[in-house]
Amino acid sequence: MKPLFDAGTIAERVADLGRAITRDYRGKDLVIVPVLKGSYVFAADLVRHVELEVAIDFLGVRSYGNHQQSSGVVQISTDLSHSIEGKHVILVEDIVDTGLTISYLYDNLATRQPASLKIAALLHKPARTRVPVAIDYLGFTVDDVFIVGYGLDYAQKFRNLPYLAVVADEDL
Ligand code: PRP
Repeated sequence: MKPLFDAGTIAERVADLGRAITRDYRGKDLVIVPVLKGSYVFAADLVRHVELEVAIDFLGVRSYGNHQQSSGVVQISTDLSHSIEGKHVILVEDIVDTGLTISYLYDNLATRQPASLKIAALLHKPARTRVPVAIDYLGFTVDDVFIVGYGLDYAQKFRNLPYLAVVADEDL
């Protein structure tokens, strides 16, 4: 497993994003929505750098297809527990790969009349884009490699690594 970003580098970047969100949403009714499961570590760190009275709600998502490739067929397995009508919402993802998952979720949440809707993602893999997505708060742009750790899994394992690592092709 080849380290990609160490814990310190991630922490600095996540703190930057939290500060930007704090600045942009002062005085606004903000709901942060992590998309489970991959974003749970990123989101947990991010929200602790948002110095606002913020609500946090979760979206559980089931994506069909194999572990390496998103099929674009997404099902909401656990929906938000509260209405987002009139609220400012940030969807939080660990990674935007093809963009299919986040664009589906964005369109879905947009129908619920939020005051605004933005996207935060720790990682973006532009080489695999199928649906272009505007990421408002982005951690790192990455090459087309398989990444685990800091919430991201390979066959449900490695989410607990405190850093981001690349899985070698021969291990996939
Ligand atoms: C990952 C990630 C995103 C999606 C990105 O989820 O968390 O939701 O894939 O891929 P896309 O841009 O090609 O749609 P995954 O299906 O691995 O589930 P997990 O979050 O539970 O790990």
